[in-house]
Amino acid sequence: MNKLNIVLFGPPGAGKGTQSEFLIKKFGLVHLSTGDLLRAEIKDETPLGLQAQEIMSRGELVSDHIVIGMIRNRIDANNTAPGFIFDGFPRTKAQAEALDEMLNAKSQPITAMLALEVPGPELVRRLLKRGETSGRSDDRDEQVIANRIAEYEQKTSPLKDYYSAQGKYKGINGVGSVADITERLVEVIG
Ligand code: AP5
Repeated sequence: MNKLNIVLFGPPGAGKGTQSEFLIKKFGLVHLSTGDLLRAEIKDETPLGLQAQEIMSRGELVSDHIVIGMIRNRIDANNTAPGFIFDGFPRTKAQAEALDEMLNAKSQPITAMLALEVPGPELVRRLLKRGETSGRSDDRDEQVIANRIAEYEQKTSPLKDYYSAQGKYKGINGVGSVADITERLVEVIG
């Protein structure tokens, strides 16, 4: 049986984490968020976490080598899963190519890239609001949020072309109620 492997894509604050929660329940998928995995390393004060912390606090991307290794371990540890939601990964062409290589080797390719589309001012508003309570330092400073969005525009957004070339890119309006957006995603997944 074909596995359902979804790349949930979008800029910082687009709602990837929020929507993943609903989709993993509905489709029984394993949620792989590189942001969550990195924050767990920081919390545990591992060498990797200490290295990543400074980069994340500036709103820059952690090295491809680190995040690809983390994802590879999690895919291998969940061989029997019905599929994955990749949240915040891939973020560069090198990451996308590595992911294709890992999944194709298991004959379980990416099914679709679902891209949540949200205008810049709404992203900033959402992230600053979360920054009031989340404890995430990268949500509290408008300059860091701007850096995260700039990193997305420069390094991550081009992946839309990468997945379009494979016929897998699907843009979804990410503005509205959380439930309405979930419905839009579920409709596209089919
Ligand atoms: P990561 O943790 O992936 O953060 P992000 O991409 O900046 O995304 P967010 O988690 O902030 O946003 P989201 O799209 O998940 O939205 P959410 O649902 O949370 O990455 C953090 C850092 O780690 C990066 O900057 C980088 O340094 C590093 N990193 C991670 N992955 C990496 C990789 N692959 N390569 C290199 N470096 C990597 O929602 C945001 C807020 O909006 C919430 O408060 C939510 O309640 C609210 N919200 C959600 N939906 C709606 C809605 N419909 N209406 C109103 N508010 C909403």
